[in-house]
Amino acid sequence: MGGRARTRPLAGRLSERPAVAPRGDRPLLVRAATERDLAAVHAIEVAAFSDPWSRGSFASLLRDPRVLFAVAESDDLTGVIGYVVAWFVVDEAEVANVAVAPGARGRGVGARLLDEALDVARERGVTAVYLEVRDSNAAARALYESRGFEQVGRRRRYYRRPVEDALVMRRELGPDGPPADRG
Ligand SMILES: CC(C)(COP(=O)(O)OP(=O)(O)OC[C@H]1O[C@@H](n2cnc3c(N)ncnc32)[C@H](O)[C@@H]1OP(=O)(O)O)[C@@H](O)C(=O)NCCC(=O)NCCS
Repeated sequence: MGGRARTRPLAGRLSERPAVAPRGDRPLLVRAATERDLAAVHAIEVAAFSDPWSRGSFASLLRDPRVLFAVAESDDLTGVIGYVVAWFVVDEAEVANVAVAPGARGRGVGARLLDEALDVARERGVTAVYLEVRDSNAAARALYESRGFEQVGRRRRYYRRPVEDALVMRRELGPDGPPADRG
């Protein structure tokens, strides 16, 4: 990830799992993405990454049961302010993408989206969640570490624009563990 995974999105569709999560004085709605969210999601993607996914890549995620593609909306009517993409294969998950609109960062939105992915992973019986992150992406690394991810590897020259190593991070999920930490 932006680092985020260079893996292309799987074709298909996502979980229908709306959830409301208050944080401070700005409650957030986290819900499954729809076709109508694609323009806003792609605008955030382009603002966030030097090597962005295409709008079509996001469209291909809709309605794939192997995929969580969720967006965060603020209740102050500013619309979609972030999104997360994760996919699930048997008992493992990968957080493939997470981003927050530049003007909405630092308010807990990224943490809420990552918590959503961890909650869904736990519900699906996932035991280990993986992700990749650019070595230099201090904000994302701090976010992941705040949610219990640990570095387990390094992929040399994994990213382009600019070329950079990816750190591979993992969080194990116990079957009887508590809900994802709330920062
Ligand atoms: C990484 C990103 C998703 C974080 O989203 P966010 O909504 O700003 O993060 P939050 O406000 O939820 O912060 C959660 C935690 O992350 C860490 N964090 C977030 N931004 C940080 C920063 N600029 N510097 C250091 N730590 C930071 C902190 O530990 C923070 O916890 P705290 O607020 O209790 O200190 C956001 O910066 C972003 O969209 N970046 C561009 C895209 C990207 O790099 N995505 C990740 C790889 S795919």
